[in-house]
Amino acid sequence: MTVPATIHADADVDPTADVGEGTKVWHLAQIRQDARVGRDCVLGRGAYVGPGVRIGNQCKIQNYALVYEPAVLEDGVFIGPAAVLTNDQNPRAVTPDGRLKDESDWNAVAVLVRRGAAVGARAVCVAPVTIGRWALVAAGAVVTRDVPDFALVAGVPARRIGWVGHAGVRLVPAGPGRWNCPVTGRQYAQTPAGLTEDHTVTEDHTLTEDHTVTEDHADGLVGEHGPGTGQCDDQPRNRSSSAE
Ligand SMILES: CC(C)(COP(=O)(O)OP(=O)(O)OC[C@H]1O[C@@H](n2cnc3c(N)ncnc32)[C@H](O)[C@@H]1OP(=O)(O)O)[C@@H](O)C(=O)NCCC(=O)NCCS
Repeated sequence: MTVPATIHADADVDPTADVGEGTKVWHLAQIRQDARVGRDCVLGRGAYVGPGVRIGNQCKIQNYALVYEPAVLEDGVFIGPAAVLTNDQNPRAVTPDGRLKDESDWNAVAVLVRRGAAVGARAVCVAPVTIGRWALVAAGAVVTRDVPDFALVAGVPARRIGWVGHAGVRLVPAGPGRWNCPVTGRQYAQTPAGLTEDHTVTEDHTLTEDHTVTEDHADGLVGEHGPGTGQCDDQPRNRSSSAE
C-alpha cells in the first residue's frame, strides 16, 4: 500500500518539486522548484532544500539544515540540525564593480553525500566536496576535503580521527589493517582507498555495502555516483586530496 507524503500546512513546497511516498515534511520546511526528495524521508522544521537538489530514499534532514543546490544526497543520508551544505566557493554579494550579483555571476558547486553517510549538527560541508559512504562528520566540523568511505572526521578543518561502521560507532582495531564494529560485530578491511566492509566474514547481508536501501530505484531518483561525479550531470566537483 503506498503512503502519500505528509506535508505540514506551514511547509513551503514548490509545485514543481517531487516528494516521494511516505516522506514527512514538517513546519516551515522549504523545498524549492524542481527538487526531488525520495521515499520515506523526514524533513525537519525549517529544513531548506534548494532548487533541483536530489535527495534519495530514507534520508533525514534535521531541523534548520540547509541543503543548497546542486547538492546530491544518496539513499539513507542523515543531515544534522543546522548543518550547511554550501554551493559557492568564493561568496560575494556584489561584483567587483559594485553591482548586486545574480546567478550568472557565479558557478554553483555541489556537495555529494554518499549512501548511509551522516553529517553532524552545525557541521559545514564546503562544496565542491564528496562525503564517502557510511562516513560520519562530527558535530561542528568544517569539511574542506573529500571524506573517504567509513571515515570519522572532526574539527576545523575536518581531519579523520577514526573509522566508523554501518552503525555509526567508532570501529576498534582487530589486527593489521582490520577493524571491528563493537556493536554489529562486522569486520572491515583497510585498503589504499580507505575502508571497505570485509564480506568474507559477514554472514548477515541485511544492510551492507552491496545490499543497501538503494537497490531499487524504480523512481530513478538517486543512483550510485562514482567518486568525483557529484551529480547525475557529471559536473566535475571534488577535491582530490582527502580529509586524512
Ligand atoms: C565525533 C563523535 C561521533 C564522537 O566520536 P567518538 O569516537 O565517540 O569520540 P570521543 O567522544 O571518544 O572523542 C574522541 C576525541 O574526539 C574529540 N571530539 C569528539 N567530538 C568532536 C567534535 N564534534 N568536534 C571535534 N572534536 C571532537 C573529543 O574531544 C576527543 O578528543 P580528546 O581525546 O582530545 O578529548 C561525536 O562527538 C559527534 O560529533 N557526533 C555527532 C553528533 C551529532 O551531530 N548528532 C546529530 C543529531 S542531534
